[in-house]
Parts: sequence; structure tokens; C-alpha cells
Amino acid sequence: HAPQHPIQAEHALQVVAHRGASEDAPEHTLAAYRKAIEDGADALECDVRLTADGHLVCVHDRRVNRTSNGRGAVSALELADLAALDFGSWKTREAWRGRDEEPDWEHPPEDPAATSVLTLERLLSLVADAGRRVELAIETKHPTRWAGQVEERLLLLLQRFGLAAPGSAADSPVRIMSFSARSLQRVHAAAPALPTVHLTQFASPRLRDGRLPAGVRIAGPSIRIVRNHPAYVERLKDAGHQVHVWTVNEPEDVALCVGLGVDAIITNRPRAVLRQLGRV
Ligand code: G3P
Ligand code: CA
Repeated sequence: HAPQHPIQAEHALQVVAHRGASEDAPEHTLAAYRKAIEDGADALECDVRLTADGHLVCVHDRRVNRTSNGRGAVSALELADLAALDFGSWKTREAWRGRDEEPDWEHPPEDPAATSVLTLERLLSLVADAGRRVELAIETKHPTRWAGQVEERLLLLLQRFGLAAPGSAADSPVRIMSFSARSLQRVHAAAPALPTVHLTQFASPRLRDGRLPAGVRIAGPSIRIVRNHPAYVERLKDAGHQVHVWTVNEPEDVALCVGLGVDAIITNRPRAVLRQLGRV
């Protein structure tokens, strides 16, 4: 990337680490989230799924095949099965692809934080111990398969950490995101003060008109929607909604989001974005 002059946002703009600092470390590992906190991210994004024995784990895909040395659907595996897998080495292989040198496979890094499955509970503890305010944007993945169980478990866990009933949505350090409006409505019914974010991948008449599903306060359009339809952001903001955009990795997209006054940028490269914003 060409060096850029820092651009100053004139409004509060959150930098959210997508799956942790996932450009530098294997996504959804403790190492990726520690790095994001070190980098200065304002918030952490994570996807959650339920294991066969009812644990919430931070895994993006339905199956573990891409990000581990195992195979199969998360929903068919127990936490102990996932704990036996290596969730980090795929990233090392990816980093070495196309280089001349051979990676040192005989002595791979043995950092469990960079190779173990991460439970949502562990991530909540990390945030609680961060020593500064770090917000959490938790995405429920394909929750319809479980008829409400993902949301139920999620709210129980948040309750245990004292996070399910914030004084007001504006003060809440946790927000729930989903492509499923039904999932957000379940959350809203059970925990009305928790902010919810409706994620959308494609432009729709609803977004065009600046509207969100009932009970949802925050729009989560893809950067593609924002590039193609910048006026939607203005309309959503005029309607009193916040706008959180994903996944924003390119400097020109960061600049676009700043210019449009979006409220949060969800990125794999929190450090680079903070640098572009002149914050580090
Ligand atoms: O932050 C929203 C974004 O993560 C949604 O897409 O596929 O990366 O979960 P995905
Ligand atoms: Ca996600």
C-alpha cells in the first residue's frame, strides 16, 4: 500500500478488529485478539457457533476444514474434539506460500494461544482483563438451525459477565450482530438494552430508504454496498441509525467511510487503519 497522510475523522469512529487482528494472526484465536488489543482496536468482532455439547465457540465457517487440521461441522463436534485441533498452522502455511525459503516445519511455533479453538467465554475474560475499555461485536452465525439456542446461551453467558443488561444501548460495551433479523429480534426481545446490528451483503430497498428491521438500531452494510451506494449511509444516519461497515481493509475505503461519517470500521488490519486515522 502507498503511504498515506493520516486523515482525521471529525466524529467518533470505532476501529473494530475483524476476527481479531486477522491479517497478522490466525483468525478467531486468542493470539489474534491479544494483538488487536495491543494494536489499540476499540472493539473486537467475533463469530459464534454452538458445539454439539452446547458451548459457544468463535469460528466463522460452518465447518472447521478451512481454519483447522480437522474436518466436520462445528455443530457436530464437541468442545473436546475442537480442543484437540490445530486452528493456527493454516495461517503459517498461507504466509509462507510463494516464498523461496521453506518454513521450519520441524519446529513450528508452539503457542497454544495461536493454535487453539477459542470459546466465547475465554474471549469475554480477555476483554474483562484488557485494562481499558474494549468493546465486543458478537455475530450469531446461522442461528436459525438451533431455533433460538444460540441466542439463549449467548445471553446467559453475557449475564454471567454482567453484560446482558447495560444501563443504555449507548453505554453497552457489547453489541450483537447478525445477517438474520430473526436472531436479532430474539436478542432484542430478551435483552432490549443490548444494541443489535443488522448485517447486509447486498443493497436492498429497505437500506435505500434508510430503514432497519424492528428493534434494530445499527446498520451493518458491506463495503461494497457503501462504495456503490454512498447515499444509503446518509439516509441511514438521517433516520438516526448508526452505520458499521465491514470489511474495510483498503486505505481508499477507509477514507470513503470517514468522509461519509460511518460510526465503525470493521477491519482485518486495525493497526493500519488506526495509523491512517492518525491515532497511532
Ligand atoms: O462484521 C461483519 C462481517 O464479519 C460479516 O461477514 O462473513 O466475515 O462474518 P463475515
Ligand atoms: Ca463475522
